[in-house]
Amino acid sequence: MAQIFSKSANMIPVITLLLIILLVLGGISFFWYYGSPKFTDVGYRPDQPVDYSHKLHAGDLGMDCRYCHYQVEKSRHSNIPPTKVCMNCHSLIGLDKETLDPVRESFANNTPIEWIRVHNLPEYAYFDHSLHLRSGVACIECHGNVAMMEKVQQVEPLSMGWCLDCHRDPASHLRPPSQVTNMYWSPPKGHDEWAQSFIQENQINPPEDCSACHR
Ligand code: HEC
Ligand code: HEC
Ligand code: HEC
Ligand code: HEC
Ligand code: HEC
Repeated sequence: MAQIFSKSANMIPVITLLLIILLVLGGISFFWYYGSPKFTDVGYRPDQPVDYSHKLHAGDLGMDCRYCHYQVEKSRHSNIPPTKVCMNCHSLIGLDKETLDPVRESFANNTPIEWIRVHNLPEYAYFDHSLHLRSGVACIECHGNVAMMEKVQQVEPLSMGWCLDCHRDPASHLRPPSQVTNMYWSPPKGHDEWAQSFIQENQINPPEDCSACHR
């Protein structure tokens, strides 16, 4: 008996060492997975079927976001424009450009361009564009300066913690709703007082309870 006891006692340091190694490896892969850009999706910038540039259209040409994303103030989802919106201009402009071939084909064949989604919340999380815009939260707060992007890239994590950071203290993130698509707006003097009275008048009270975002 005594001998068996001492034999297995000798195994204890070995087992402990193995457990420690397993824990460390598990820890590393945990942070690898949760910290990697694929999980948080920050930096995700897929190639699109058409070399469409926000920098050219929304930046250099100065088009308002709502010319194309015209549902964004009215509905939960912001629409991606149908090809006929592009053809408002491109039935006249860039007729000699090969980069526009897929746009003309889509229009002629009446088949939508298969744009690849950049931002995507999981099914179980509820988000509504129109309400945020009405409350003076600008596109740039959540999407960055899209008017400078050749190719749209996700710049914020869109994680629960990120949503809640703003919900807990929205004042510094708000602006007059007329300025929500302006990429170059900056807070004028006295913005803090403006924000406080805007919050009061409009009874802005972003939810922190689970059922608001998980319904
Ligand atoms: C001329 C039309 C047009 C204008 C103007 C425009 N967009 Fe877009 N937008 C598109 C198209 C087409 C796509 C889909 C292809 C892509 O992602 O680049 C898109 C995609 C996006 C996406 C990514 C959607 C996703 O898949 O997650 C965001 C965010 C966005 N636009 C924001 C803006 C903002 C902000 C402005 C104003 C500064 C703006 N857009 C102006 C046409 C436009
Ligand atoms: C408070 C943060 C926030 C603001 C403000 C915001 N967006 Fe978004 N946007 C998101 C989130 C989150 C998603 C992903 C939604 C989903 O997967 O259901 C998204 C998705 C999109 C999409 C893809 C289609 C969709 O609705 O899922 C487009 C296009 C877009 N946004 C454009 C805009 C434009 C243009 C503005 C300003 C007029 C804007 N967004 C303002 C957070 C925001
Ligand atoms: C308000 C007018 C207007 C609208 C609407 C518009 N564009 Fe453009 N687009 C232009 C102008 C102007 C140019 C620059 C043409 C040039 O350089 O000759 C351009 C250039 C382009 C180019 C680059 C052509 C090249 O190779 O130089 C592409 C691709 C393009 N647009 C795609 C789109 C798509 C896709 C849409 C719809 C989502 C769209 N455009 C909507 C005005 C517009
Ligand atoms: C930059 C600030 C900001 C960010 C980021 C933000 N919100 Fe909000 N949210 C607000 C404000 C302001 C309101 C408006 C509250 C009001 O009008 O009472 C609001 C309201 C809401 C509401 C209640 C209104 C409704 O649609 O039922 C939900 C749900 C919501 N947000 C979900 C989200 C989710 C999910 C995210 C993250 C993906 C998010 N929000 C990110 C500022 C923000
Ligand atoms: C302001 C909106 C908002 C509120 C309020 C909110 N959540 Fe979430 N939650 C989200 C979003 C957005 C995600 C998706 C995060 C992602 O894609 O990484 C999420 C993800 C989750 C997940 C999935 C695991 C994870 O972390 O990714 C759980 C579980 C969860 N929420 C539980 C809760 C509980 C419990 C509450 C109440 C105490 C709550 N949430 C309140 C927006 C919210």
